[in-house]
Amino acid sequence: MKIDEEYSRLLGFDVEFREEGKASFLTPKIPENKNYPPTSLPVFYNPASKASRDIAVLFLKAFFEGEKISVCEPLAGTGVRSIRLILETGLVQYALVNDISRNAYELIRINAKLNNVEDIIEASNLDGNELLAARGRGRPRFRYVDVDPAGSPSRFLENGLRGCGKNSVLGVTATDLSALTGAKQISCLRKYDSYPVKTPFMREVAVRILAGFIVRSASRINLSAEPVFSFLRDYYTRVFVKVSPSIEKAKKLLRSIGWISYCPKCVSIDVYRVGEIPINKCSRCSLEVYSSGPLWLGELCRKELVEKMLDYAYRDLEIYREVISMLEYIASEDTSLIGYYPVNVLSSIFRVNPVKPRKLVEELENNGYKATLTHLDKSAFKTDAPPEVIREVFIKTSRS
Ligand SMILES: C[S@@+](CC[C@H](N)C(=O)[O-])C[C@H]1O[C@@H](n2cnc3c(N)ncnc32)[C@H](O)[C@@H]1O
Ligand SMILES: [Zn+2]
Repeated sequence: MKIDEEYSRLLGFDVEFREEGKASFLTPKIPENKNYPPTSLPVFYNPASKASRDIAVLFLKAFFEGEKISVCEPLAGTGVRSIRLILETGLVQYALVNDISRNAYELIRINAKLNNVEDIIEASNLDGNELLAARGRGRPRFRYVDVDPAGSPSRFLENGLRGCGKNSVLGVTATDLSALTGAKQISCLRKYDSYPVKTPFMREVAVRILAGFIVRSASRINLSAEPVFSFLRDYYTRVFVKVSPSIEKAKKLLRSIGWISYCPKCVSIDVYRVGEIPINKCSRCSLEVYSSGPLWLGELCRKELVEKMLDYAYRDLEIYREVISMLEYIASEDTSLIGYYPVNVLSSIFRVNPVKPRKLVEELENNGYKATLTHLDKSAFKTDAPPEVIREVFIKTSRS
């Protein structure tokens, strides 16, 4: 009998061998029909999330360079994420790998053995909140906690943060982009205490709402959570925060919470910080506009960290090729600039032909303004130039 058939018999569902990064592991047999929802499998596995796991590996390598760390994956599915973190970073000494599903738990144990990491991985079969809420009080917390649910992470956030020790990181995934990007505004209010109003830069609003929610959740339980890396890709967004037990730092971070509004007439982006009351009028043309928020207005990535991640990615292109282009975009992106302008939106407002975003970045920089591309929308640019300059530069470049 073939080895995967033996495991299928043992587990009571069909499994197959797969390879991802340096891991060789079993997943439930994936139906030929590619449209299956991964949540319908006996154990969750989505091959399309490889990039998310690539990024987690590169992030840990860059952030914890040379340290020995403990990690916790409260919602682990097959365990492939933790196995890859162990095999590819060489930094992980202990990993608590948990899933509420009994099938997942059994598979995590088998996959740990198949990759010779059973001495590092402790498999667990609890509710993720129960597992994390019990940390502290004599049970060591972790240097890295990875909250990776299907849907919204909001109900796991506070406990995820409680599982974080000193100088640690929490990585968070949200796949409910319909809520975060404003297609389902009330769902966003329900899950993230934040209201998204439609703008041309909703993908950034989504990342900033998630980041803001993490910052605020941490401050509620006397922790500071500072966003250090984030991205949005395909069907999900991820934010990594540095966690420290500091009320003073938490208060400081809260000053970067606020609201954003966008004027579809004069293309002004207005920003209001905590302490300023958002007004429902465009600051330039007085058109009635509404604000998205509360959300995070600070930087979303640390440049030196992204550069290190890129460096590690270049060293092993066989594994990380898929995420290179996104990392290159992020490395060149200025996330202190709020919002972005897709060129087709501006071309229809200004009634001229679209212009390549790269060309506009160049022209705006030549005029003394900050301007960058963004991984969030490759047809867009970010800038601190005022609306009248954006208009003038856009029209001039379009006609040249
Ligand atoms: C998106 S999958 C995890 C994928 C995995 N992190 C990876 O990278 O392949 C989410 C997992 O959370 C598990 N889950 C759902 N609710 C849970 C809970 N309350 N506690 C622990 N696990 C839970 C599901 O069984 C599922 O395996
Ligand atoms: Zn206006």
